Amino acid sequence: MNEHQISVQKLNVWYDHHRVLKDVNVNIPKKQITAIIGPSGCGKTTLFMSLNRLLELTEA
Ligand SMILES: Nc1ncnc2c1ncn2[C@@H]1O[C@H](COP(=O)(O)OP(=O)(O)O)[C@@H](O)[C@H]1O
Ligand SMILES: [Mg+2]
Repeated sequence: MNEHQISVQKLNVWYDHHRVLKDVNVNIPKKQITAIIGPSGCGKTTLFMSLNRLLELTEA
């Protein structure tokens, strides 16, 4: 049984040639509240948009 609600392994996201997320690993537990905290521009919104599929993979 999967122990996490969401599990991310080695996620990379680029905006054009700018890699914003670099090999990000995140495990979000089930039945808990998880907060993501970080300075402006560190990639929080990009991570959420990736999880919600508001950013889709485009092949180069
Ligand atoms: N649509 C976009 N096009 C190009 N660069 C972007 C875009 N959205 C965000 N960025 C850049 O990606 C980085 C992470 O931004 P973002 O995910 O919004 O961070 P946070 O939500 O933590 O402030 C920043 O350097 C930002 O300038
Ligand atoms: Mg943001």
